[in-house]
Amino acid sequence: MKKLALRIYSLFVFCGMFGYLSAQHNIENRIENMLSKMSLRQKIGQMNQVNARKPDERLYQQIRDGEVGSILNAEDPALLNQLQKIAVDESRSGIPLVFARDVIHGFKTIFPIPLGQAASFNPQIVEESSRIAAIEASENGIRWTFAPMMDISRDPRWGRIAESFGEDTYLSEAMSVAMVKGFQGNDLSNPSSIAACAKHFIGYGAAEGGRDYNISNIPERQLRNIYLPPFEAAIKDADCATIMTSFNSNNGIPLSANKFLLTDLLRNEWKFDGVVVSDWASIGIMTTQGFCEDKKDAARKAANAGMEIDMVSECFINNLEQLVKDGSVSEKTIDDAVKNILRLKYRLGLFDRPYTDLNLQSKKYAINHLHAAKKAAEESFILLKNKNDILPLGNNIKTVAIIGPMADAPHDQMGTWCFDGEKEYTQTPLNALKKQFGKNVNFIYEQTLAFSRDKDTSKFVKAVEAAKKSDAVLLFIGEESILSGEAHSLADLNLVGAQSELISELSKTSKPIITIVMAGRPLTIEKEISLSDAVLYAWHPGTMGGPAIADVLFGKSCPGGKLPVTFPRYVGQIPLYYNYERIGRPANKKEVLLNDIPLEAKQSSLGNTSYYLDAGFDALFAFGYGLSYTTFEYSNLTLPKKNLSKDDVLRINVTLKNTGKREGCEVVQLYTSDITASIAPPVKELKDFKRVTLKPGEQQIVTFDLPIQKLAFWNYEMNKVVESGKFDVMVGGNSVDLLKMRFTVD
Ligand code: GLC
Repeated sequence: MKKLALRIYSLFVFCGMFGYLSAQHNIENRIENMLSKMSLRQKIGQMNQVNARKPDERLYQQIRDGEVGSILNAEDPALLNQLQKIAVDESRSGIPLVFARDVIHGFKTIFPIPLGQAASFNPQIVEESSRIAAIEASENGIRWTFAPMMDISRDPRWGRIAESFGEDTYLSEAMSVAMVKGFQGNDLSNPSSIAACAKHFIGYGAAEGGRDYNISNIPERQLRNIYLPPFEAAIKDADCATIMTSFNSNNGIPLSANKFLLTDLLRNEWKFDGVVVSDWASIGIMTTQGFCEDKKDAARKAANAGMEIDMVSECFINNLEQLVKDGSVSEKTIDDAVKNILRLKYRLGLFDRPYTDLNLQSKKYAINHLHAAKKAAEESFILLKNKNDILPLGNNIKTVAIIGPMADAPHDQMGTWCFDGEKEYTQTPLNALKKQFGKNVNFIYEQTLAFSRDKDTSKFVKAVEAAKKSDAVLLFIGEESILSGEAHSLADLNLVGAQSELISELSKTSKPIITIVMAGRPLTIEKEISLSDAVLYAWHPGTMGGPAIADVLFGKSCPGGKLPVTFPRYVGQIPLYYNYERIGRPANKKEVLLNDIPLEAKQSSLGNTSYYLDAGFDALFAFGYGLSYTTFEYSNLTLPKKNLSKDDVLRINVTLKNTGKREGCEVVQLYTSDITASIAPPVKELKDFKRVTLKPGEQQIVTFDLPIQKLAFWNYEMNKVVESGKFDVMVGGNSVDLLKMRFTVD
């Protein structure tokens, strides 16, 4: 009987594999067959992406002439079907269009900004948010999103840090893979799946000075050790369908014409078989970058480097045919690009199902989507301060003053890159607090400042009066959504407008102040934190941010997020990140600071170490930091084996105890440190993390199994290897307060 069962199972597996292989084989055959029928002009048409914000007869004719392969920024399902019908029925090749859009952190139901989602340290949350975004967007016929953005971001002056997963490579990898899996689902041909796009390839987050679109100068070894791993993981672990190049030049070469990265690495080394798309007109702007003489030169250099789809610059459609005819670009280059584009469309099932079912418009803002958005928001919040455990608010709180420009800001609460979310659906903290807790608590609301940049202090008096009547103040401050995101760099990270003055005035009432910050980036708010009794960093929490904040403030849920980025005390400390390379003269933190320097001090009398005389040694908050409504104690870090070979697995055990009075969730973080290497190693690097929920008094042995191969890095000889030697392993609830133990690798 068993043998028969085994035979039947094996047959199923064979058929399944055969089915998969035959489908893949079928796609490759269909690609070759389609390509063989296409003219050069039609092939180049597939490499042209057009913006359809205002569709017109020119666009319809372009589609009819086979000069458009994909369209971005159309989102009405009826319009998409209309455009698709022209492509399928009226163009000679009949090749369907693929419709793309920036579905970055939700389509209609808006989730926390990606930086907030990263703060959850919960990849499942991220996968669920992007799965829901794909379900809602694909209902409209959108089958390609330009996300996840996985730029390593170490500079909060750069507005696009809001869209990133923060400063750490390992965390960005984990979140990028989760987001790609969510968007693409288990089968890209499923109508609810949308192609993901790993962006921006590469180094965009290192734009000099945090000024958007600026240059980066990252050597190959750093690219490979720090910036490339999330892209490699998205491709190899999640089969990410597309890649978008970045606006920056790296070491003088614009990424839209960087042959080493687009062809040598992406194609030849990583065997990527997806599609490479430019960023918005990034091919054309290479003329402005002084890298190309004109649009024709730009088309030549981009195509020969490995660029395949030209987003809106029209360099390809206007020049490639001539470039092929004069031999500057080979037709094989065109064919290779078009094969990848056709493969994307076949994998999406567009040749078999090009249209959207207009009757299927039922999933947007579905109740389970809203619940998921609320849960994601709750897990994204970071409790930065909670003096005397004033949070969660207890039964002794009868009157609460709700003050500030972000308490009822339905548009700004959704954050940057929110094309399709509708503010009418946003549930703000003001409304949620009244609805959920208004029976037992008397809320007094004073907006006081109309928006974050508002400098009008005329309403401060009323705010102070409201505070005086209250048992506690909930102060909602931060930044409007437009102040982060693309092209929105800031040279000053202090609170804008009169928000800081407002908290100073409120603090004179001696009433407890609970400050909730909605922002798209770290802000330098040391003063405001000192004036607050508690601080909850809520990022831009999306559609359900209000109910999530209300439940956290009143203890129906417990904050457990951890910082995905370092918070500087001063903008002058930037770039400031936890995994910096070892230096020869680190500070011992006993150095003399500015106000203690003796007069006529001799040149080297202060000791020659690395720190700021006027800012000291530390960040405001460290990577991985975040409090909870309970407390946790780490003890008994043990390594059953301390001398390992390079193919061993290092087992790490640590005891975690909930030493507080409430159930809580802790993100247990595992770091390693290479003591000596062929290049100056980082002082520490995150290698794993686990979310552990414990009841009061409960303790648990948390175990990590770390393959020694995870210590591999690109070394002096530019080989990816594990080097023998001494290492430290560290475990804790943030990147500073850690238990440490040594081990060696032979
Ligand atoms: C923008 C962004 C990119 C986005 C694209 C399409 O300039 O850089 O992230 O996907 O254009 O909107």
